[in-house]
Amino acid sequence: MHTVNVNLGDRSYDIEIGCNLDAAGARLQKLGLGKKVALVTNPTVSKLYGQRVIDSLSKAGFLAMPVEVPDGEQSKTLDWANSIYTALLINSFDRTSALVALGGGVVGDLTGFAAATFMRGVPFIQIPTTLLAMVDSSIGGKTGVNHPLGKNLIGAFYQPKKVLIDMTVLQSLPKKEFLAGMAEVIKYGIIWDAEFFEYLSKNREMILALEPGSLEWIIKRSCEIKAEVVSKDERESGLRAILNFGHTIGHAIETAEDYTMSHGYAVAIGMVYAARFALQLGFCDPSVSERVENLIASYGFQVDLSALTRRPTANELLTTMQIDKKAEGGKVRLVLPKKIGEVVITKEWSENQLQDLIAG
Ligand SMILES: NC(=O)c1ccc[n+]([C@@H]2O[C@H](COP(=O)([O-])OP(=O)(O)OC[C@H]3O[C@@H](n4cnc5c(N)ncnc54)[C@H](O)[C@@H]3O)[C@@H](O)[C@H]2O)c1
Repeated sequence: MHTVNVNLGDRSYDIEIGCNLDAAGARLQKLGLGKKVALVTNPTVSKLYGQRVIDSLSKAGFLAMPVEVPDGEQSKTLDWANSIYTALLINSFDRTSALVALGGGVVGDLTGFAAATFMRGVPFIQIPTTLLAMVDSSIGGKTGVNHPLGKNLIGAFYQPKKVLIDMTVLQSLPKKEFLAGMAEVIKYGIIWDAEFFEYLSKNREMILALEPGSLEWIIKRSCEIKAEVVSKDERESGLRAILNFGHTIGHAIETAEDYTMSHGYAVAIGMVYAARFALQLGFCDPSVSERVENLIASYGFQVDLSALTRRPTANELLTTMQIDKKAEGGKVRLVLPKKIGEVVITKEWSENQLQDLIAG
């Protein structure tokens, strides 16, 4: 088992990679939690893994209560957070009780938000079951729900007490979901670690075949990079913004596609366009954007807007980018690659230049 520490003073915690689900109860025993634990999950994940985690918690002496929310983004709402509060209150949960999120990013974000707000904050633990949740959403304390007017607009920074990763659960994850997580893994190579980028390009077949050794390595390295960035800038006042690489354009594509395209796939195209933009603006040389594009394409992602059912216009993308909450004073900050393993955050670009990029 590998342990990666997220170093945030008295809110520090470990990510335990290679922890068997059946050992979850024993791992939680060490956290000094109260007896009552709510296991929040969805029907898909519950059917596959819920009972194993409940048994493990019970064996470790916890009173484990399952709480199910519907599968999918539709459950990331204040209404569903409220349903969790109700289940906790009816069952006399108190400030010492803990919430455990067993699922992908949706369950993790919702459970974290419920934990941050129930009785002004109770402990919570993440057991991510998608690749995206393992390498990204379970780490760093961004919790929240969606609002009818936009995604992730209601939320809190609230760190888990532990993240437990059992990679064997990825065997049941649909290929499409695995690939969505790979977009985030590739992102870490581009923004932070050229050697990791190289590893991803040399070991693609083993990774896509879920070979345990390479899977463990890419999850560990991604967790290390996210942990390091978050430890240096928990609240995104500077460095953490680099994690948005590919996301600003990606989010605009997601919106233009009316959320029919999965986030990871939109981020993949967003990263390609960010790299092309970096080349156009003179931040990087042609080999950088070429390598980014080739790696992303080699994993089976679409890399061009022309491949979409409806090609969005530059104006459409720009409008979303401007109302995106990451915009400051109307000028959007973009994260662009300088070389493999290093990015720059810049507002130095114009609408005309973006028009040229999208038209190209
Ligand atoms: N908090 C953050 O920092 C952060 C970062 C990135 C994304 N997010 C959020 O994460 C969410 C997306 O997360 P996601 O991609 O994990 O999607 P998801 O949680 O919807 O899971 C994807 C699908 O896989 C199923 N599933 C999960 N684990 C499985 C398994 N082991 N076997 C079979 N099926 C399984 C789920 O039931 C679901 O149908 C979005 O809401 C996004 O906003 C948050």
